[in-house]
Amino acid sequence: MSSRIIDGKSTAEELRKRLTGAVAGLAERHGLRPGLAVVLVGDNPASRVYVRNKARQTAAAGMRSLEHRLDAATGEAELLALIAKLNGDPEVHGILVQLPLPPHINEAAVLNAIAPHKDADGFHPVNAGLLAGGGGDAVVPCTPLGCLMLIKNTVDDLAGMRAIIIGRSNIVGKPMAQLLLREHCTVTIAHSRTRDLPGECRRADIVVAAVGRPRLVGGGWIKPGAVVVDVGINRVDAGGGKPALVGDVDFAAASEVAAAITPVPGGVGPMTIACLLHNTVTLACRAHGIQSPL
Ligand code: GUN
Repeated sequence: MSSRIIDGKSTAEELRKRLTGAVAGLAERHGLRPGLAVVLVGDNPASRVYVRNKARQTAAAGMRSLEHRLDAATGEAELLALIAKLNGDPEVHGILVQLPLPPHINEAAVLNAIAPHKDADGFHPVNAGLLAGGGGDAVVPCTPLGCLMLIKNTVDDLAGMRAIIIGRSNIVGKPMAQLLLREHCTVTIAHSRTRDLPGECRRADIVVAAVGRPRLVGGGWIKPGAVVVDVGINRVDAGGGKPALVGDVDFAAASEVAAAITPVPGGVGPMTIACLLHNTVTLACRAHGIQSPL
């Protein structure tokens, strides 16, 4: 059997097109231009690429993009002061502080300082709590939101399906579990201490791999006909010193068994930024008491 490839690139393009139309409508009908502030501390090369792409796509959708690039030596107090300023800026509807932060800055203190109603990443404990409570008002973290959109495009009815999430991070694993629970899946969160991970995985109708271990999930781990979503983006040596990007799933092997699978690159990755724009539009509408056009 050969899987259907879940095309995140074209799904994200469609979503961005819809967002661009919605943003134009907000400007025309309400004089509202959603604004996203992105804060980068230091010069982590991967973070710089992410931040550049976020800013470009925000502007391309017709939204206001504000970039704050701070020196790696910036102190926590200075970063907190910037966040306080952005919290009070009526033109800023969403705030994102790119992670990881330099080790001298307390990440939790920074994320907790972002006003929950401007938390474009959905990382604030208030939003995590709202999501855990099943509430519809939670800002949902972008990567799991993108994964859910891809899964819902692939599966008609998720109710009763067995889902496994490999990885228990606050950014992906835990919110992904909440989202799938909200869709009435039976959810397992697996992690580094899980016993018989391949066996747990083989029972699942939906597999979300988010551990950052290149090609950890082999073909023999996949139940025939399962849907596989690969969040991993791992840089490996493709031979001869050439770099290649691979996921947490052995794509060639798993695609022989799964019904549908996301590729790396071109699967979950492109959805993440599109969902960030989605969250920002939602927050801008909420701030102005406007029904979201999305
Ligand atoms: N670093 C890696 N992924 C993310 C993300 O989704 N949001 C933020 N703020 N930082 C990240």
